[in-house]
Amino acid sequence: AKKMILDLDTGVDDTLALSYTLGSPDIDLLGISGTYGNVVLKQGLRNSLAVLSLLGHPEIPVYPGIDHPSDKDEFLTPSADIHGKNGIGEVVIPDSNKEPETTSAVDFIIDSVKTYGKDLVYVPTGPLTNLDAAIKRAPEIVDQIGQVVLMGGALTVCGNVNPWEEANISQDPEAANRVFRSGIPAKMIGLDVTLQTLLTKKETQQWRDMDTPGSRFLADMTDFYIGAYAKFHPHLHGCGLHDPLAAAVAIDPTFVKTLPMNMQVDVDGPTRGRTIGDNTRLNDPRKTMEVAVQVDVPRFLREFMSRTSAACR
Ligand code: BDR
Ligand code: CA
Repeated sequence: AKKMILDLDTGVDDTLALSYTLGSPDIDLLGISGTYGNVVLKQGLRNSLAVLSLLGHPEIPVYPGIDHPSDKDEFLTPSADIHGKNGIGEVVIPDSNKEPETTSAVDFIIDSVKTYGKDLVYVPTGPLTNLDAAIKRAPEIVDQIGQVVLMGGALTVCGNVNPWEEANISQDPEAANRVFRSGIPAKMIGLDVTLQTLLTKKETQQWRDMDTPGSRFLADMTDFYIGAYAKFHPHLHGCGLHDPLAAAVAIDPTFVKTLPMNMQVDVDGPTRGRTIGDNTRLNDPRKTMEVAVQVDVPRFLREFMSRTSAACR
């Protein structure tokens, strides 16, 4: 099976991406690299370990990543309103008795590329700070890795921080721009596409009806997130499955249709943090990414419920 690394700022939809992956026998999850974003790094690591233990996979290692953006020391305000103060919808689950590894996430990423090469897919669902640092330390990984499937940005104008900035890119636009321009084989799953994949309480009730510790946790956590979406995005009916769609595409690319695009991130203009696609300058293939433009919503939602439920049994 293909090998995967999930790089998580473990909030609600990151946890759903992890659950999706754990319910996928067709992928081998090597480990989780931790980042900051929805919550501070430490809380994210704690959440990842606790969820792994609750879902019966305490053997999967969790590596501590960088805890702040590449160009400044301060943390950005964690998004407590959307993901809850603890990042997992204010649901309380037992702490794992395992600790994060002592190896850093950046070393883990580089070592994994050296070991698995083209068989490795790396799925960042938070800021791109860890991957940027890994490329800086070992530039050759750009040619050695199988693929990066990232959740972030948006091709059409659409943001959740402000009208042009999506949260993951907004945290560290410089890192994102360097990754985008590095020539690493990457697929961008943006907010304009993930906001088409909405989950409602009708689906979370299916987890509730399963009535296992894991499924009750997913239902409670996701209902909190659906409540936040109702408050902050009243025009939508349900919550966005941003991070799970990236994990799903890493496992099965046919969920989305993509276009080749020469991508960059605005780092010093008035729309700092915006991802900009250019399909007229495709003559530099090393700078070309695949950008999702369309998603098979019904098929993805079916697979999402089936795999996350499998992870809870
Ligand atoms: C992204 O931002 C985070 O809040 C979510 O976990 C997701 O990765 C959506 O913009
Ligand atoms: Ca995330």
